[in-house]
Amino acid sequence: MEHLRDKVLACCRQIAQFSRSPGETTRTFLCEAMHDCHQVLCGWMQSLGMEVSVDAAGNLRGLYPGSDPTAGRLLIGSHLDTVPNAGAYDGVLGVVLGVALVESLVGKRLRFAIEIAGFSEEEGVRFGVPFLGSRALIGRLDEQLLATEDAAAVSIESAIRQFGLDPALLPAAALDPYTFAYLEFHIEQGPVLESIKEPLGVVESIAGQTRLTVQFTGKAAHAGTTPMSLRRDALAAAARWIAQVEDKARSSPGLVGTVGRLEAKPGVSNVIPSQATAALDVRHASDEIRTRAVDNLISAGNDLARERGLGFRVIQQLDQQSIEMQPALVSAATRALQKVGCRGHRMTSGAGHDAMILAEKVPSVMIFVRSPGGISHHPEETVLPGDVQLALAAGLHFLNGF
Ligand code: GLV
Ligand code: MN
Ligand code: MN
Repeated sequence: MEHLRDKVLACCRQIAQFSRSPGETTRTFLCEAMHDCHQVLCGWMQSLGMEVSVDAAGNLRGLYPGSDPTAGRLLIGSHLDTVPNAGAYDGVLGVVLGVALVESLVGKRLRFAIEIAGFSEEEGVRFGVPFLGSRALIGRLDEQLLATEDAAAVSIESAIRQFGLDPALLPAAALDPYTFAYLEFHIEQGPVLESIKEPLGVVESIAGQTRLTVQFTGKAAHAGTTPMSLRRDALAAAARWIAQVEDKARSSPGLVGTVGRLEAKPGVSNVIPSQATAALDVRHASDEIRTRAVDNLISAGNDLARERGLGFRVIQQLDQQSIEMQPALVSAATRALQKVGCRGHRMTSGAGHDAMILAEKVPSVMIFVRSPGGISHHPEETVLPGDVQLALAAGLHFLNGF
């Protein structure tokens, strides 16, 4: 297992070098660097006797057949895209651990097949809409979504073609109907496991999330000559609205609200901003609390716009419900963790994961690996080698539990 642990870590670090921006790790949906990523993982999977392909959504898929063709398949996966200037483990670790688990079988066939999926997109960076890869497996990468455009007006459909794939073949990307479970390993991306000194945890639910873009529209005017009382400043309104987002989240237990992008036009110091566009991300374990908070924030934006004579527009990119992992699989994962000396701590994930998409169609569970310092979505994101070794050992117990 030590050799495999080192191979997992080296592979994650190697893949982190494949980037669309030199000197950092940034891989958005089907960027050129994804080809290099696929090549490395494809070579490894083929060396283990797996059949490898890339589906029409750009997901890397590897199949390790079982000895009993009627025994179905276990899907193990996570995503291969990243946020801008990312760390080396968010997503990739889950894919690489899956391949390493197949290697740990040293050619032995289990009764059931194992399919590894390296999803093309989970972060929502390029198109504002996350989970593009895993959606294809459950038939949710539909025509309307395929028409969504990135900042350069390239649609998802065109991006698929530019990568050398054929969107007409998307139906063939569907989950194999005999898939009986989905397992996703992922770094925790938060401080909980570290705080209780546990290397691994079991996810029992994933918080829902809303992502939307709001736009205030006012009127550009001269910054020196227009009195304060006669301005229609879109950015000043957006600033007040962002403060309300923070106040709302701070005053509601468990609610998190983030404005991660703000763009002002025309964007120069001596012109009053005519347009301000902000991207909002709101999450909570309770869908009711989340949707009520979002509704409140939208009416607060409307009020601000009305008071100031501005236009206000909302475009919703995501309303993803919170989701429970399957109880029997949560118990199986808990037992697997306990077999390697962990407590089997159960937790809710505040981060979104492909498992929340797959869970709509197949029983799903996640195993979290402790994140030192709770750091993620940052180049300093890391994992402890001993934790990776335990994840492999627990994964093997999980496989043998079926
Ligand atoms: C994915 O990383 C998310 O934003 O939760
Ligand atoms: Mn992420
Ligand atoms: Mn992730």
